[in-house]
Amino acid sequence: MEEKIKQAAERARTVTPENAGELEQFRIDFLGRKGIITGLFDDFRKLPPEEKKHYGKKLNELKSYVQEKISETGRLISAKDEYSDGPDMTLPARQLQLGSRHPISIVRKEIIDIFSRIGFTISEGPEIEDDWHVFSALNFPPEHPARDMQDTFFISRMPDILLRTHTSSVQVRVMEKTTPPIRTISPGRVFRNEAISARSHCIFHQIEGLYVDENVSFADLKQTLEYFARELFGEDTRIRLRPSFFPFTEPSGEMDVSCRCGGQGCRLCKYTGWLEVLGCGMVDPNVLGECHIDPEKYTGFAFGMGIERIALLKYDIKDIRLYFENDIRFLRQFSGTV
Ligand code: PHE
Repeated sequence: MEEKIKQAAERARTVTPENAGELEQFRIDFLGRKGIITGLFDDFRKLPPEEKKHYGKKLNELKSYVQEKISETGRLISAKDEYSDGPDMTLPARQLQLGSRHPISIVRKEIIDIFSRIGFTISEGPEIEDDWHVFSALNFPPEHPARDMQDTFFISRMPDILLRTHTSSVQVRVMEKTTPPIRTISPGRVFRNEAISARSHCIFHQIEGLYVDENVSFADLKQTLEYFARELFGEDTRIRLRPSFFPFTEPSGEMDVSCRCGGQGCRLCKYTGWLEVLGCGMVDPNVLGECHIDPEKYTGFAFGMGIERIALLKYDIKDIRLYFENDIRFLRQFSGTV
């Protein structure tokens, strides 16, 4: 008896069914009506009572081992079967999560497209600049507040190396090495030493434009800006120019566009009917001279705007910080916008 149980246990351990058919055969071999274990229990019944306790325990152990092995192997085989026929083509597809463009990228592209259509090229330049390209060539007097550490991020002093505060620096670079006609826009990141709030940030994006040629007049500036405002904000948009001051333009102005509320007044336009959009003016002859362009022969206009501000007005965004936080709930709202 001892030997028979040992052989049966050995067989139960070494035989491993690979599929459902083999597993069923294994079950019949051991537990079926004429199976090994069934046979052993028949023998067990004929044993003298003093041996029953010993062999009864051994037989029960063997039986539970076999039962355990059958259910465990069954689990493994059915898990394997699930994949054995290849992928299930009837399963519904998993939904793809498409990203969306950032509102700044959307508006930047839109503005670039508008000016490209009337012959403006795109120029880019360094974010780390010297004093000359950001201030001196642009007619900033030595005591101008923008030259102060309070307003501008300096990397070194004497020589003054700094993060550009506007992309007018790119236009200086273009003027220095191009003979007019020049028609270009410079999009890019700019930096100002300002406290971060809902309305202002120390990093933002600008697009500035420059047109230099013979006989460029203020009327050309106004026409160009009017075309731009209508393309960007809609055909019914009206513009108005208010006098302003910049060291590098003379005369200088600020352009407002009519608000979507149609002049009735709303929260966005602070009940004025107008939204301030950009700064502009005729390039100061001193600036042309500094950039080796003959101010007797050539005139030009320039303008500059903050992309964050334009996007704020276009989409009625309430807080400029949202642009930088990458909150997916904010960004998702722009999916579907090209
Ligand atoms: N450079 C100005 C600014 O950063 C904008 C501007 C550009 C104004 C060109 C007039 C002409 O605010």
